[in-house]
Amino acid sequence: MIDLHLHILPGIDDGSGSIEESVKMARRLVGLGFNGVFCTSHYIADSPQAADNQTKNQLREKLQAELNKAGIKLKLMPGNEIYIDPKMVDYLVKGKASCFGGELNSRKKHQHVLFELPFYAEVSYLRDIIFELKAKDLVPVLAHPERYLFIQKKKEAIFEIVKLGVKLQSNYGSIVGQYGAKTKKTVKFLLKNRLVSYLGTDIHRTEGSMFLKFEKAEKKIIKLIGETEYRKITANGDELAKPFLGA
Ligand SMILES: [Fe+2]
Repeated sequence: MIDLHLHILPGIDDGSGSIEESVKMARRLVGLGFNGVFCTSHYIADSPQAADNQTKNQLREKLQAELNKAGIKLKLMPGNEIYIDPKMVDYLVKGKASCFGGELNSRKKHQHVLFELPFYAEVSYLRDIIFELKAKDLVPVLAHPERYLFIQKKKEAIFEIVKLGVKLQSNYGSIVGQYGAKTKKTVKFLLKNRLVSYLGTDIHRTEGSMFLKFEKAEKKIIKLIGETEYRKITANGDELAKPFLGA
């Protein structure tokens, strides 16, 4: 199983604070059944959380070497959670932000890109960014749609976004109430309507409650949509990671 969204690289965003914490995090993820993760550190332009691809690659390789040394079987793959702004596509082109699995590469088809929105304000240029990404043959993946106010208020808005070619990545924690009742209700709506393509833990800390609630979250998802549908979602993650797992 692959985790599509977490903050395991140390010291470059609000996630893990040290390499030791990252190693502990990795050990616990393996305990939950994960064999690979996309290291989706935040990329928030003009903020301290904007490490470029070279920095992230070096950190990932260093952490991977530590995991190998400790016998922790978790493959770390490149990624980013890019905070939307009008220049978002530029960050991919200029090697600052990363797609799932690595840098933007014009010879590769359908590279997937994880991006997030502000929680409370609606972004007027969202559609423009989606079109720009698609024009570069990229597949936009929206992080935790259930957490955004405009979707919570008008759940049908998500259908329009999906129709534009955006895939949705929900958080395991949403269904067990980690982000409150509205987020829980919204993720249930998304799951029931078969709108969720991917799931992620969005873990930031070793002590994060997600580690304790993960099995409960899985059970709740299975109760809601059935084992077969749940496995389809986790298989989507496996599929996305396939080209990078052996590398
Ligand atoms: Fe995140």
